[in-house]
Amino acid sequence: MIPKIVHLIAAARPNFMKVAPLYHELAGASWCTARVVHTGQHYDANMSDAFFRDLRLPEPAHHLEVGSGSHAEQTGRTMMAYEAVCQREPPAAIVVVGDVNATAACALVGAKLWIPVVHLEAGLRSRDRRMPEEINRLVTDAISDLLWTPSRDADANLAAEGIPAERIDRIGNIMIDSFEMLRPRIEATDARTRLGIAGPYAIVTLHRPSNVDAREPLGELVQALTELSRELTVVFAVHPRTRRRLEEFGLLDGLASVPAIRLTEPLSYIEFMSLVIGCAIAITDSGGVQEETSYLGIPCATLRENTERPITLSEGTNRLLTAPQLAAAAREALAGRWPRGGRIELWDGHAARRAAVSLRTRVFK
Ligand code: UD1
Repeated sequence: MIPKIVHLIAAARPNFMKVAPLYHELAGASWCTARVVHTGQHYDANMSDAFFRDLRLPEPAHHLEVGSGSHAEQTGRTMMAYEAVCQREPPAAIVVVGDVNATAACALVGAKLWIPVVHLEAGLRSRDRRMPEEINRLVTDAISDLLWTPSRDADANLAAEGIPAERIDRIGNIMIDSFEMLRPRIEATDARTRLGIAGPYAIVTLHRPSNVDAREPLGELVQALTELSRELTVVFAVHPRTRRRLEEFGLLDGLASVPAIRLTEPLSYIEFMSLVIGCAIAITDSGGVQEETSYLGIPCATLRENTERPITLSEGTNRLLTAPQLAAAAREALAGRWPRGGRIELWDGHAARRAAVSLRTRVFK
């Protein structure tokens, strides 16, 4: 019998960490063949290739080369290119992950071609529809056949939207699998020395449109990071979207000239996580970093008004803050006055195994 083909859709940086553990788990299965489909939303070497290398992902079986563009362009181009792939070689199931444009685009393609669609990281809600990701989450969950959730709050969100329990399977947080898979290499990597950082430091990542796309919030953040750098070294791994905006608003040179601020290109997963495990505080607007820091017991300040990952607030180490609160927050973290968090159920490094069992028993039954 020819094993059934399962497409794992990967588009952007945060997807690669979610796809990798599942790819490796399914690679050992006789009942299916996992194929990675890269839509090409992220294409720079340090936004994509470095992640494939660190996570030991194979060359994608299909590369859609969709690239950058407006939301409609990205979503539309992904749908057109992926539909052609599915018509040529229909897979037996499609796994979409996270909440990027490709997640919703490929779920739509699969649903309309009657191919079973599974959403990995389902049920998260910020309840902020100004976030493109919230729209992607709502659309994807509404049309997917099977919803793999990371935590109880996600199950409750789906139930409240009327999704029947038989479509929901709580598998836990697969980002933790990636971390555990690469923990030895992360712990053996000394990005800190390579970057010449001495003493306590904050690691910073920012790329949400609400923080970086307009001059005023970005200017406020630059000011807050400058103030923060009087408390500790600030290592800021600058996302391409953020770099472009800093340049456009004339803020980059000023920021780069602050002595205790270290600007870097986007870092590989291993280098980035090696900096996270040693930092005094992580400052972010990313979703994944909120989860990784909660798992690792590291203080995290999230520069957003809301989070689709409230479990990191109630059971982890995350706090929602504004830019002017950052310097005081860093002092608190340095003094050890920060929520310590505890173990979160099913954030244990075995989510991929549960996902594989779920795929086999619920989709290929
Ligand atoms: C996307 C996701 C977001 C995720 C983020 C992680 C959506 C709606 N957003 O946002 O949820 O948190 O990825 O990074 O899907 N660029 C490059 N090189 C690249 C990729 C992008 O230079 O490899 C530049 C381009 O100028 C592009 C801009 O960055 O226009 C933004 O990239 P885009 O893929 O549109 O969205 P992200 O901000 O990365």
